[in-house]
Amino acid sequence: MCGIVGYVGHRQALDVVLNGLRRLEYRGYDSAGVAVLADGAIVVERKAGRLANLEARVAEVGVEAFAGTAGMGHTRWATHGAPVDRNSHPHRDATGRVAVVHNGIIENFAALRAELEAAGVEMASDTDSETAAHLIARAYGGDLAEAVRTVCRRLEGAFTLVVSHADEPDRIVAARRSSPLVVGLGEGETFVASDVAAFIEHTREAVELGQDQLVEITREGYAVTDFLGGEAVVKPFTVDWDLSAAEKGGHEYFMLKEIEEQPDALANTLRGHFVDGRIVLDEQRLSDQDLRDVDKVFVVACGSAYHSGLVAKYAIEHWTRLPVEVELASEFRYRDPVLDRDTLVVAVSQSGETADTLEAVRHAREQKARVLAVCNTNGAQIPRESDAVLYTHAGPEIGVASTKAFLAQIAANYLVGLALAQARGTKYSDEIAREFHELEAMPAAVTRVLETVGRVRELGRELADSKAVLFLGRHVGYPVALEGALKLKELAYMHAEGFAAGELKHGPIALIEEGLPVVVVMPSPKGRAVLHAKLVSNISEIQARGARTIVIAEEGDETVRPYADELIEVPAVPTLLQPLVSTVPLQVLAAEIARARGYDVDKPRNLAKSVTVE
Ligand code: F6R
Repeated sequence: MCGIVGYVGHRQALDVVLNGLRRLEYRGYDSAGVAVLADGAIVVERKAGRLANLEARVAEVGVEAFAGTAGMGHTRWATHGAPVDRNSHPHRDATGRVAVVHNGIIENFAALRAELEAAGVEMASDTDSETAAHLIARAYGGDLAEAVRTVCRRLEGAFTLVVSHADEPDRIVAARRSSPLVVGLGEGETFVASDVAAFIEHTREAVELGQDQLVEITREGYAVTDFLGGEAVVKPFTVDWDLSAAEKGGHEYFMLKEIEEQPDALANTLRGHFVDGRIVLDEQRLSDQDLRDVDKVFVVACGSAYHSGLVAKYAIEHWTRLPVEVELASEFRYRDPVLDRDTLVVAVSQSGETADTLEAVRHAREQKARVLAVCNTNGAQIPRESDAVLYTHAGPEIGVASTKAFLAQIAANYLVGLALAQARGTKYSDEIAREFHELEAMPAAVTRVLETVGRVRELGRELADSKAVLFLGRHVGYPVALEGALKLKELAYMHAEGFAAGELKHGPIALIEEGLPVVVVMPSPKGRAVLHAKLVSNISEIQARGARTIVIAEEGDETVRPYADELIEVPAVPTLLQPLVSTVPLQVLAAEIARARGYDVDKPRNLAKSVTVE
């Protein structure tokens, strides 16, 4: 939530910062702002609304006003204070010599604000962030880094700050606690940003900052300390994707490109995890004995990541005979879950910075449970605080709605299940090899689905005026139904609900009326014959009551055809892997309905990609 970028180098900072913000806009798009150190002063412009509004304003003022090679920018997802110009970042102190952009929430801001107001400071915004600008200005005694350290020690909550002072025009200072911050290292230029996407066009060499660390950047490089000014250890890394991954590549929307990238996301996630006949995880700070001792698994996650956990439950229980509970991260720590050192908590998060999931991880570790993170972002906070990590290699996901990351999460969760089965001996090595090879065949199966979604697109346009859509599924098809409904809600702002089909007769069937579209995710007629028969009955019940049935079924499933007003066929795959193919048409359907309704599918209203507030 909120994207921030800072730059010191040889180029015009305005260009670098605006380009960086364009790549970070997925993190929040309520307002945007830029500050450039120019001619011994700081020139600031900020505007409510999309980045385009800021760009128009900058053009109006004239880019000459922003001539300078050090600067910073911000794209906002509002927490404290409405998304209006005066609450947009950068914020300045009263003299305008200090400028600050902030991501996160300063939890003790009310007390800090009261203290500043008592000292006669007049606040210009309703934000928590502005307090940091005033505090830093007051703490400044000729060394910006020292002033920022002093203030960071007083701040509570989660924050990344990027700060500049007009007296230090060749330096930018940034600090982080529980919000992301990476440094980018170029030739004669240095960057800081919430995400490497902001500087990927200039360099792939990066440094990941740790908790409670501060970095000073200049053209020559960077220096990192902790908040007391002591030495700090950092982790350099090379980004394993390039600019093309962060660009639309001819697609109208990132999300459409990301749907197409799903076969690669799956293949890249699986690659390198089956070596010499064994499943291997990435960063393993758990021994085989630790995995053998596990007697219960929790999957904690939010939104689509949570749905990936619901899918995984079926596989992990089946392969390991361990009980698996899947829990919304936002509920987990508030209900005193039963955890001990033999509990494995699998924290699934694309961004690795979702506050609810991070807090669930911390709670689990306080209770001595072991935590394994499944994450798409190298070095993010959740993997940093976990005992082991399995990275999904979906590449950057910029569309706010999760697509390729979701499929990659399912694949990674399955690898976790296989690693547990391997350690516990509940599956023979040849069975593990077979399961892995079946997974390896999935990128090709998803490619086939993508080749046949033309009719789904048309259907999306036909359904654009519907009031609501229901989604039904059973077994692993149930979380797919939930995911289909979530996609439609968030992208098309349409009422959508996912149900376990067996529950229909316990209430939801009352919703069925003439013409209501109902999407049904069918199990395989061969792999799950009993469930298949039951779902056929469910469909005939709703069809009899006037619903328009849209059925996702395995190729060649003739028994369901008479009940399907629309039949969408997907390749036959093993039952546990079916979500990897059946989710894809639902993603396309939601995107197409949203487009037909005239919405921006990359930036749905009120949402942001990384939810770093609870
Ligand atoms: C839905 C979506 C969200 C995220 C959720 C968790 O399309 O993208 O529901 O899945 O906010 O985000 P991560 O995986 O970053 O923890």
